[in-house]
Amino acid sequence: MSFILAISVLCGVFAVLAGVLIVAEKFLVNYGVCKIDINAGERELEVDGGQTMLNALIGEEIFIPSACGGRGSCGYCKITVLSGGGPVLPTETPYLTRKEMRSGVRLACQVKIREDITIKIPEELLNVKLFSATVKSTITLTHDMKEILFELGEPTEISQQPGQYAQVQAPSPEGPVFRAYSISSPSYETNTVELIVRIVPGGIGSTYLHNLGVGDPVIFTGPYGEFRLNEDPATEIVCVGGGSGMAPMKNIIYTIYDRWPDRTCWLFFGCRTTDDVFYLEEFRRLAEKHPNFHVIYGLSDPLPEGNDWDGETGFIHISADKYLEPGINRQAFLCGPPPMIEAVTRVLEEKGIKPSDIFYDKF
Ligand SMILES: Cc1cc2nc3c(=O)[nH]c(=O)nc-3n(C[C@H](O)[C@H](O)[C@H](O)COP(=O)(O)OP(=O)(O)OC[C@H]3O[C@@H](n4cnc5c(N)ncnc54)[C@H](O)[C@@H]3O)c2cc1C
Ligand code: FES
Repeated sequence: MSFILAISVLCGVFAVLAGVLIVAEKFLVNYGVCKIDINAGERELEVDGGQTMLNALIGEEIFIPSACGGRGSCGYCKITVLSGGGPVLPTETPYLTRKEMRSGVRLACQVKIREDITIKIPEELLNVKLFSATVKSTITLTHDMKEILFELGEPTEISQQPGQYAQVQAPSPEGPVFRAYSISSPSYETNTVELIVRIVPGGIGSTYLHNLGVGDPVIFTGPYGEFRLNEDPATEIVCVGGGSGMAPMKNIIYTIYDRWPDRTCWLFFGCRTTDDVFYLEEFRRLAEKHPNFHVIYGLSDPLPEGNDWDGETGFIHISADKYLEPGINRQAFLCGPPPMIEAVTRVLEEKGIKPSDIFYDKF
């Protein structure tokens, strides 16, 4: 009993000490102005010390992917720190390979600026912009899914590739936070950006987006993401997803049929019940115009009777297995929950698609 009491007291003392150190660092330690050298002198910044690298870069309108809004839980905000920056923190190690750690890769949201720092960031991130926009329309797609269309204000145009995403700023009690949403509008639509958002109960970003009305102002950064559509029209494209994973696939499909009307593309979309089905009629109309577009929706939990479902049943990887012939040159894009991605990846590899031609976003 006295042992447990001693441990509790010790923990309490450590907690108080940690709190004192955090408060002392915040209010008593002044790191002054520190320099950040980016990409060997390409940009040189002077920022207030004491803040995180992620916030310092955002303050200078350099936007690093940060899907979790700087909470250290997405692992997206990787940069290379060449000097300064201190040791790698335990909060970073789950997201970094040994090779990355050896070459100085760090999570920008965990690096505190306490001295001059030299960093390297991918060139394309220097082109990510901050956009202001207004809501042009909102459409309720299902019980938990909405399509939201933004008209760009400043800048008036966006250059995005299918598969890329934007980070929308949402208000929260602790200040603005950013959340990642794939761009569902095709890349030839340069004055608007469309998102498909699933509501997460109690979720900051998704609730904010679902409550927006026509004319409301919005701020987002982008585009982010490294997926590049194979430019060879002889390569078939396979899109497999579920839920809000529709967003990048809609962008890919419309972009493909604008550029290559005869290209072969497969859409496999998994839903639980008919209540989760959306865009099916729209895609069937597109398939009438483009006979090499194949639309396959599957219900994992079809109601036993009284429904007139004419699509597939069972998990969507089973449909992919049923329809795809092996040995054809293909690139695949998967978007949905992790178990779906894993099951589909296995099927696609069995069909002969190389792992390097299978891209995915898990959410
Ligand atoms: C690259 C990328 C692209 C994305 N694209 C889209 C998209 O096109 N459409 C879309 O709807 N979402 C997309 N997301 C997910 C999106 O970024 C948010 O994570 C999601 O909307 C939840 O954020 P929130 O602020 O509403 O919830 P938060 O305030 O972050 O979370 C609230 C609570 O819900 C839990 N939670 C968080 N996310 C989920 C979830 N997905 N399911 C269940 N519980 C959750 C949290 O643990 C927390 O307890 C994408 C994510 C990434 C990384
Ligand atoms: S912003 Fe998500 S881990 Fe850094």
